[in-house]
Amino acid sequence: MKYLLDTANLADIRRFYDIFPIAGVTTNPSIVKKEGKIDFFAHMNEIRDIIGPESPLHIQVTALDMEGMVRDAEAILTKIDAKVYVKVPVTMEGIRAIKCLKSQKVRVTGTAIYSAQQGFLAMEAGADCIAPYFNRMENMGLNSDEIIAALAEMIRLYDYPTEILAASFKNAGQVDRAFLAGAQTATMDPSILEAALTQPHIMQAVAGFDADWKAVFGEKTVAEL
Ligand code: G3P
Repeated sequence: MKYLLDTANLADIRRFYDIFPIAGVTTNPSIVKKEGKIDFFAHMNEIRDIIGPESPLHIQVTALDMEGMVRDAEAILTKIDAKVYVKVPVTMEGIRAIKCLKSQKVRVTGTAIYSAQQGFLAMEAGADCIAPYFNRMENMGLNSDEIIAALAEMIRLYDYPTEILAASFKNAGQVDRAFLAGAQTATMDPSILEAALTQPHIMQAVAGFDADWKAVFGEKTVAEL
């Protein structure tokens, strides 16, 4: 399992990389919007500096046509670095762009996936990662677990080199279900990770241990005995 941060917030990336076992960062235009009118490439390079050269960084194209997507990819790879995963929405133009970018050996993530069929096509076009939108599919009444399981089964059956990078989560339970269904990787807002480890019952348990220890040993910790 790999956990990625679905954010472009520099403070969150610094803080959560320090705490959690984070494997990389993903962004999209809606996530970038939350940071305001930033200097886009300077900001993305700052993310790269924080996470290091080996940590996967996924950045999305914004053009809607194939030629424009390929130009966006070239700009991303030139102005950031050649290891960036270029995120391409799996549309008709997107599939064309994925084929073209893979012929140039660019790392590609097929995104905005709402069906097994979209994922299958992206895999066959050569995408390194595919990003099924877990919560958005649930909102549409689709079975996200089954769709991810179908993608995982096809990868296993035919030995595709594609990784499932599940995205669009509203809670930690959805993330767990995506992993159990076969996603190797999940990207999420930092708040989902924080919520997973700060639930009141966890904090109550820790407060109970703290009170019991102090009742006998006072303020001294184990190291101070
Ligand atoms: O990475 C895709 C993801 O950001 C979409 O999430 O929360 O907008 O459904 P959401």
